[in-house]
Order: sequence, then structure tokens, then C-alpha cells
Amino acid sequence: MARVRACFIWNVFLVLFFKGGVALTGNFWHITDLHWDPSYRLGDDPTSVCNSSGNRPVQGAGKFGDYACDSPWDLINSSIYAMKNILPDPDFILWTGDDTPHVPNEQLGEKAVVDIIRNLTQTIKEVFPTTKVYSALGNHDYHPKSQLPAGPNYIYNQTAEMWKQWLDPESQNLFKIGGYYTERLLNRPGYRMLVLNTNLYYSRNKVTQDLPDPANQFDWMDKELTNAANQKEKVYIVGHVPPGFFEKKRQTMWFHQNFNVRYQELIQKHHAIIMGQFFGHHHTDSFHMFYSPDGSPISTMFLSPGVTPWKTTLPGVVDGANNPGIRIFEYDTDSLLVKDIVTYYLNLTYANVAQARWEKEYRLTEAFRVPDASPTSMNVILDRMAQDSCILQKYHDFNSVSYDLSTCNADCRIDHVCAARAIDQKDYDQCVKDGAPPTGLFVAMLPVISVVLSIAWPSL
Ligand SMILES: *[C@@H]1O[C@H](CO)[C@@H](O)[C@H](O)[C@H]1NC(C)=O
Ligand SMILES: *[C@@H]1O[C@H](CO)[C@@H](O)[C@H](O)[C@H]1NC(C)=O
Ligand SMILES: *[C@@H]1O[C@H](CO)[C@@H](O)[C@H](O)[C@H]1NC(C)=O
Ligand SMILES: *[C@@H]1O[C@H](CO)[C@@H](O)[C@H](O)[C@H]1NC(C)=O
Ligand SMILES: *[C@@H]1O[C@H](CO)[C@@H](O)[C@H](O)[C@H]1NC(C)=O
Ligand SMILES: [Zn+2]
Ligand SMILES: [Zn+2]
Repeated sequence: MARVRACFIWNVFLVLFFKGGVALTGNFWHITDLHWDPSYRLGDDPTSVCNSSGNRPVQGAGKFGDYACDSPWDLINSSIYAMKNILPDPDFILWTGDDTPHVPNEQLGEKAVVDIIRNLTQTIKEVFPTTKVYSALGNHDYHPKSQLPAGPNYIYNQTAEMWKQWLDPESQNLFKIGGYYTERLLNRPGYRMLVLNTNLYYSRNKVTQDLPDPANQFDWMDKELTNAANQKEKVYIVGHVPPGFFEKKRQTMWFHQNFNVRYQELIQKHHAIIMGQFFGHHHTDSFHMFYSPDGSPISTMFLSPGVTPWKTTLPGVVDGANNPGIRIFEYDTDSLLVKDIVTYYLNLTYANVAQARWEKEYRLTEAFRVPDASPTSMNVILDRMAQDSCILQKYHDFNSVSYDLSTCNADCRIDHVCAARAIDQKDYDQCVKDGAPPTGLFVAMLPVISVVLSIAWPSL
């Protein structure tokens, strides 16, 4: 009897030790929006440095780029080698698209787009030859840009071939039809990755706007998530264009309204198994919260900063450039909980005058004093942004990857808080109308509650 008990205790100990041990933390890279501009050239004429500047002056042009331009080759190369230096052996890499420069369609073409995707694909393969990459198309990975179709075409075909080594045969076939796919996460039973083609929902996409469910992606997603729940799988979702609003310009939603509603409904329906959503397109460092109809935080979409420093030409955005950023997610390999996020960046000004020095910008749990990056913790951060101007300012400095360090004023506060808090148009309008009020009464009360509890029940 005593022997049985001792074994039992030892087994419990082993289980606790290994369950709670460091071995359970994995990590992966997320890179996005590389936007390589092959026309970038240093010379005497500041008006002809890069085609992606349009007619804007290029003042600080250097080896690693300029805030008015998309990425020169040296910046692309530097960012991929920085990944290799900082974390050479991640569990996998997420790469969420937008490879080509912001230039008029006339300066690109099917071949130019495919050549650029191929070069970046080859480069990533050269630097990370054995790493699994989950790769999504961006709205700039098509010609004409943003017009990604709801059926087979040359570019999906070509891309599926280039990404062959990263795709299961079934994924490859599905990708050729709709530009999306799913497979087990690292082949492990119980874990799944959904890589979406949300460019089909982009408001600038004229070829899909009248379709009820472009490429049947929503229907497919619903079925895959239902299956995943039945199989007790946990899921990450990856894509380029996010639903919801842009935090740097009031009332800017990327999806068509009906697609935006449908996406949110699917997340609400299946949130119990969705452990994270990873998107790009903003070029900024931000996030979107998803809530249940009764207002509890159920999912977070992490919007990772871009590699390109390109100052957006979107009317109404003042000085919307950023420093090049890349980031590591740390996750619990058992539950897929996102435990932490570490963002690295290149101070472009410094790189051009001195050397390409990729530095740690911040670690989420340290900078915002939360235990992890769960929906509850991200919601705590959002609530603190809404009520504490120091936290808001810290978030705002990171939003442009430490490029724009100006003060986030009252309007800016509303823009950022409401974009992070609301996916739906009505919720967004309400948030703006109410001036982005702090909602975290419970959260604000937590210290009080815990003091009361510890007095009432000292053994807790
Ligand atoms: C850049 O623009 C110029 C003139 O507008 C054009 O002739 C040239 O082909 C473009 N370069 C690239 C790489 O697209
Ligand atoms: C790419 O970056 C690495 C690391 O900084 C460097 O050794 C290599 O020469 C670069 N390659 C090119 C083509 O610039
Ligand atoms: C990608 O393009 C760069 C710049 O032209 C070149 O140096 C590099 O060799 C190309 N890489 C591949 C794998 O094609
Ligand atoms: C895609 O490639 C296959 C062969 O690999 C070819 O039969 C098919 O016609 C291509 N489809 C398109 C739309 O290019
Ligand atoms: C970036 O580098 C420039 C030039 O060295 C410096 O003035 C600036 O303060 C740096 N920015 C940050 C956020 O460190
Ligand atoms: Zn982009
Ligand atoms: Zn984009």
C-alpha cells in the first residue's frame, strides 16, 4: 500500500514537473509585409531613389532604406538574417504576405509579382532550410493588386508550386483553387493551422465583392473548425488583411461589411478552440479583441509590424511610417496559449548612419505587466490603454515600431482603443460616440477584491 502511494506521488510529481516545466514553451517567428522594391537605388537625385515613393521626396535614403520607400534588398536580407541570428531554430515561421512594392500596376505584371514572391521564398528557404513555414498571400501578391480571384489562376498555381515543400499535397491542391489551406500544426495530432485568403474580403477587391462566399472559404472554415472541435484540436488562424478597423484612420474598415460580420460570427462560434489569430497588412504593431455577445474577451488577433518602413499614402494618415519590425511568439506547446511576444526592430535612421543593429524593442509581459498574451490579458492591456495615458503612450510608441514618438492625444486615443475593441461597425460607432470609455470596472477593482479576499480568507 505504502509502495503504491509512493509511486502515485512520484507519478504526480513527474506529471507536474513535465507539465509545468520549461520544455512546454515553444516559439515561432512572424514576419509580414516585406514589400521588396527592386527599383531602390542610391544616387544623387532624391526624386529617383525608389519607385514606391511616388512623387514624394526621399530625404534619408541609405543602404537599408528610407521611410518614404519600400524595402531595398539589403533590408530584406538583413531582416531574414536577423531572424536567423536571434532565433535560428524556431518551431515554425508565419509569413503573412505583401511581397511587392507599392507602385502602380503598370510597373508590375504577373511575371514581376511571381518573380518577387519566388525570390523571397527562395531566400527564406536558404536561410531556414528545414523550418516549416506557414505562408499566406497578401493583397499585393497578385496582379492587378488586391484583385485576388475566387478560383484557380496562374498566380495561385505558381505560388503553390514554390511553396510545395511547406504544404501537404492536399493543402497544395486547395491552395491552387482558393489561396487558402489547413493542415495539422507541425503534423501533431490535436493541433491545427488554418491559413486564410482574406484578400477575398478586401473592400478593394472588385472581383469578389458580389459573391456571397468567395471560394467557399467561410463555409470551409466553419466545417474545418467544427471538425477540429470534434477532434478536440486547438487552432491558430493566419491571414493577411484583417477584419475590423485601422487604428490610424477613423472609420477605415478593410473588409466589405457583410464579410466583416461573417468573420466575427465564425470566431464567436468557434472561439473555444481558436488559440490565436496572426495577421499583417497594417504594417503597425496592434491587435484586435473579439468578444462574446455578452462581452467577455474570447480571442485576440495579433497584428504584427511590417518589415517595410514605407510611409502610407492613405489620405488622412499623418506620417504613417514605421521602423522595420519582426517578432517572436512564445507559446505553450500543449495548450497553444500565447505566453509572450517579443518584438525586434531596426532603427532605420541608425542603421543607415552606422550599422544594421536589430534590437529587442519590448517583451509584452514586461512592458505591460500581464502574465501572458491570453484574451483576458490582452483585454487588461486594452482597458489600461483606455484609462491610463502612460500605458496608451507606451502602446502608441510601439504601434509605429518606435518611429513616431509623438503624444497620443484624445482623438488618437479613441482611434486606437476603438479599433482594438470593436470588429463590428455598430460596436465601433458606439465606442467612438462614447469616447472610448474604460470598461474595465472589474479589472480596476481586482486589487481591491484580492485584498478583501486575503483578509476574509487568509489561507487563500
Ligand atoms: C520605375 O519607374 C520608372 C519610371 O516611372 C520605370 O521606367 C521603371 O521601369 C520602374 N522600375 C521598376 C523596377 O519597376
Ligand atoms: C545578407 O546578410 C548577411 C548577414 O548580415 C550578410 O552576411 C550577407 O552578406 C548579406 N547578403 C547580401 C546579398 O547582402
Ligand atoms: C533575390 O534578389 C536579390 C537582389 O537582386 C539577389 O541578390 C538574390 O540573389 C536573389 N535571391 C534569389 C534566391 O533569387
Ligand atoms: C495550373 O497548373 C496546372 C498544371 O500544374 C495546369 O494544368 C492548369 O491549367 C493551371 N491552371 C491555371 C489556372 O493556370
Ligand atoms: C534611432 O536612431 C537615431 C539616430 O541614431 C536616434 O536619433 C533615435 O533616437 C533612435 N530612435 C530610437 C527609438 O531609439
Ligand atoms: Zn502591406
Ligand atoms: Zn496588405
